[in-house]
Amino acid sequence: MKNIVIFGAPGSGKGTQSDKMIEKYGLNHISTGDVLRSEIKNGTELGKTAKGYIDNGQLIPDDLMVSILASVYDSFGREHKGVIFDGFPRTIPQAEALKKMLDERGDKVAAMIELDVPEEELMKRLILRGQQSGRADDNEETIKKRLVVYRNQTLPLIEWYKNEGIHHHINGLGELDRIFGDICAVIDGI
Ligand code: AP5
Ligand code: MG
Repeated sequence: MKNIVIFGAPGSGKGTQSDKMIEKYGLNHISTGDVLRSEIKNGTELGKTAKGYIDNGQLIPDDLMVSILASVYDSFGREHKGVIFDGFPRTIPQAEALKKMLDERGDKVAAMIELDVPEEELMKRLILRGQQSGRADDNEETIKKRLVVYRNQTLPLIEWYKNEGIHHHINGLGELDRIFGDICAVIDGI
């Protein structure tokens, strides 16, 4: 079982590269952002709570995210080839909770893959996506807040995963296929 954390700032390509990984390796995928956006669309209580945070570029509280994550993970059953965690963890408590949740099931994260992209490029990509798809948090003001949250709350996870001995750095700037090739080299090496 190859459980993989795909890690990076807003707009770094986590979702884009996850699609390719799902296709090539038959992995399952948990995008906590997609889960929350679907709850918002369906008008659930969770969606109503989440909307306030997302529109303001802030993170949803850890305890709420952790309980969602465990239930989605368990929905894949015990026979899966592995799960891509996209957009989770985003804080050190979330990383600790993920480790504990997997430990309790006899599982683990095999690799944390960091997509490293400069902020000017992230801003360009997200503004463009906002114009094309209208994702509510893809406007300049909210993107700036998301990047601050990333720097302050999420970036420290790189050191955390280095200490776990499973951090892999990838240059996330450039051609999609070159980036995917670098990701495959990590996955094939697990
Ligand atoms: P989430 O949905 O996870 O958003 P995000 O982390 O801000 O990242 P994005 O989905 O915007 O970017 P991505 O890295 O997936 O890049 P993509 O492939 O789309 O989270 C949204 C919100 O939900 C958070 O702000 C928070 O409020 C809440 N939330 C989610 N998880 C949470 C958690 N664990 N705890 C608490 N709160 C949580 O690519 C971006 C664009 O760039 C696309 O248009 C794509 O086509 C383009 N692109 C991709 N790769 C390239 C490339 N190589 N060259 C040029 N363009 C490219
Ligand atoms: Mg995404």
